Amino acid sequence: MGASHVRGFVAEGANVVVADVLEQEGWTLASELGDHPNFYRLDVTSERGWAATLAAAEDIFGPVSVLVNSAGIVRFGSIAETEPAAWRQVIDINLTGMYLGIRAVLPSMRKAGGGAIVNISSKIRTRTPAFKKPKTGAPAKPNFKGWATRHPNLKITRGLAFAHAKNLLALRSVAHPATARPTPKAGPALRAS
Ligand SMILES: NC(=O)c1ccc[n+]([C@@H]2O[C@H](COP(=O)([O-])OP(=O)(O)OC[C@H]3O[C@@H](n4cnc5c(N)ncnc54)[C@H](O)[C@@H]3O)[C@@H](O)[C@H]2O)c1
Repeated sequence: MGASHVRGFVAEGANVVVADVLEQEGWTLASELGDHPNFYRLDVTSERGWAATLAAAEDIFGPVSVLVNSAGIVRFGSIAETEPAAWRQVIDINLTGMYLGIRAVLPSMRKAGGGAIVNISSKIRTRTPAFKKPKTGAPAKPNFKGWATRHPNLKITRGLAFAHAKNLLALRSVAHPATARPTPKAGPALRAS
């Protein structure tokens, strides 16, 4: 999904910095798109990593005006089956990673005179899945770790929209529909300006 965002932004003429833990895939995407995008290895759970990536992006292109927080992982299993390390990993990447990214980019967006932050979430941010999947009738897999990160994603996005209403920031929490559809249905728009 991140790759399709990058391609979309480049097609619109934007200067794009691609960041991911997957170096090979990141460089492949960057090279496919010509001179525009640059790749940086970023672990979104690292405050230092965010600072370095933002500094690099500013050096090349100037203040950053758009951040798409798309990094995330999904791990299924009930609470009883979930080891604390796995729980922490999902919270760290899906939630703390988003927080660190927003925190890192805000000063740059102020310099840019405003900006937009898109936090990719999941349809489970507002809905608990049915016990049976409607199409197959199979029991839904428990995903407590995902549920624990997706609703806060929406709340944090709304809180940011409220807090930055005067800073010309546009905030949006987008629900990933958990299908291969190329254009996810957008959640409620939270234009804060
Ligand atoms: N695919 C789905 O059905 C689905 C459903 C609900 C929510 N989501 C969420 O939507 C977002 C995009 O999903 P996708 O389908 O593109 O998933 P994906 O697995 O294809 O992409 C997620 C990307 O995040 C990167 N990533 C993981 N941990 C990272 C870390 N610590 N630092 C930096 N990058 C890291 C991965 O390397 C990967 O490139 C994710 O947040 C995902 O959890 C996806």
